[in-house]
Amino acid sequence: MLVRYMWPLKNKFKHMKKGILLVAFGTSVPSAKVALENVHHEVEKAFPDISIRWAYTSAFIRKKLKQQGKEIDSPVIALSKMADEGYTHIAVQSMHTIPGLEYDYLLQTVKGIMDIPKGPEKIEVGRPLLYDHVDIERVVDAMLIHLPQLLKNEGVVFMGHGTPHFSNVFYPALNYYFAQKTKSVFMATVEGFPTIHDTLLKLKQNGIGKVYLIPFMSVAGGHVKNDMCGDHDESWYRLLTSAGFKVECILKGTGEINEVVSIWVQHLRDAFNRL
Ligand code: CO
Repeated sequence: MLVRYMWPLKNKFKHMKKGILLVAFGTSVPSAKVALENVHHEVEKAFPDISIRWAYTSAFIRKKLKQQGKEIDSPVIALSKMADEGYTHIAVQSMHTIPGLEYDYLLQTVKGIMDIPKGPEKIEVGRPLLYDHVDIERVVDAMLIHLPQLLKNEGVVFMGHGTPHFSNVFYPALNYYFAQKTKSVFMATVEGFPTIHDTLLKLKQNGIGKVYLIPFMSVAGGHVKNDMCGDHDESWYRLLTSAGFKVECILKGTGEINEVVSIWVQHLRDAFNRL
């Protein structure tokens, strides 16, 4: 929680203008945008009278979009613009999956904005998708509802991002939660632990012959297109196919699954209620 110190008298007569800022890593893959559009739609339904803005945390993605003629603000620019436009109370929702580096940077950015004089009175940051035990249970249930019908020797590998940040522990933890419900669903990451190589061994041990690869990322963007199902030697698709598995890719981000989106919306609701 970040509250600006205000002289009480001034505070009393100042009018309130509330706004929402949704902050995602971002994507430059046009087909992946459906996930963020769906999130926008769900947030709009939950907050019909509040203005909703977006910011992308990835400078690389913003630069790429700019070259295509599309401009998306960074969190610091988006918040500065809102401050200039007289927003007094802002709920910032992290559209990230885990409370990792991007989330930490977002908290720091909000703190920085609150250090600048004459800005918003209060900014609250909503937790990312996964934060506590209840979030994990809800996400696991939501993901399991949307699986294809699995035959006896079929399994699922979810592709998470992974991070050097300590919150990478969410990914091995998810394996534990999935294992409480099914023997055929596994979590692997592109840039953290568990790796696809660890997971390949598990698939073999469990007698799985066919694997569905499904993103565990808000959008089916660059990592899904390249690392998951890309047509090159290091893609998970190729790796598993070469190891003798039948593989099918499902290109759907978690932002397209409303049972998952409702958790982000709940976290936004929590933040908004704290304003
Ligand atoms: Co990445």
